[in-house]
Amino acid sequence: MQTFPAEILKDTAGRLTYLPLPFSAREIFHQPKGTIYVQGTINGIPYRSRLLSRGSGCYIMLIDKVLQKSLGFCGLPLPVSVTMSLDAQAQPSGAPAVPGPSLSPCAMDTITAVKTRTSVRHYTDAPITPDVLNTLLYAGMCAPSAKNKRPWHFLLLEDRNLLTELSAANPNARMLAEAACGIVVCGDHNIEGTNVFLCEACAAATQNILLCAHSLALGAVWCGVLPHSPWQKLLTQTLNLPPKVSPITVIALGHPAPSATSPEKAAPWDPAKLHRATW
Ligand SMILES: Cc1cc2nc3c(=O)[nH]c(=O)nc-3n(C[C@H](O)[C@H](O)[C@H](O)COP(=O)(O)O)c2cc1C
Repeated sequence: MQTFPAEILKDTAGRLTYLPLPFSAREIFHQPKGTIYVQGTINGIPYRSRLLSRGSGCYIMLIDKVLQKSLGFCGLPLPVSVTMSLDAQAQPSGAPAVPGPSLSPCAMDTITAVKTRTSVRHYTDAPITPDVLNTLLYAGMCAPSAKNKRPWHFLLLEDRNLLTELSAANPNARMLAEAACGIVVCGDHNIEGTNVFLCEACAAATQNILLCAHSLALGAVWCGVLPHSPWQKLLTQTLNLPPKVSPITVIALGHPAPSATSPEKAAPWDPAKLHRATW
């Protein structure tokens, strides 16, 4: 269930009274298509409704006259507190509400996660729970992509023999042998069409997963896959990737081993890297 502050507004023509949503309802409610029916409360008053798309991922919910009256709406912007979840019963038959994965809560704020993340290359034997794994995959799927094409697929490596085989073929990815699992982030040329922004989208997804893993106290490292390299060929063949789908990155994941210290790094803030307006 989503809980958020919002404002009830009247459009300039004075015909519609509505509540803009502060998130992309399609993404949050995992409804790739069709009408989105919702239910919840506004200032504690229950409602059931459906959402209208305003384009570019923006959604509004219309507020009918009865609800306006209950809320004491008099035409001026009214700040309210909203709860909202999918109304599965109102979903037309044939289009059942698909529940998203349950996600693990995390207490680390974004700036701290960005500042303190490091590559971790040694892990304990402890497995990663399905909830945590789903949270990481969800984070990957939240990444930005050009024209929102989302040209990625995430292939989970959980078989120990497979992890060992892939690790043995690339010294830079040797940590896969002791990883609890791996995620191969694949780019799909069938979706992206051209090469142009495929790697960027997969890189953004990879970084989302790394940051999320770190903020959930896991250790992870990004293993690069060089185009046309023997490792890329091995990944493509061994993982039986379909035509026009390429492995772009491989993420090794696990619970950090006590010995997993990262090498000392230069302070990241570097004024010499900063240019204002012109070089
Ligand atoms: C495109 C890319 C490819 C990388 N490939 C590897 C790799 O093959 N093996 C590895 O151990 N680390 C790899 N890394 C991780 C970098 O070595 C690491 O991010 C860098 O040294 C900075 O350290 P930090 O991640 O702890 O900040 C890669 C990182 C990027 C962005």
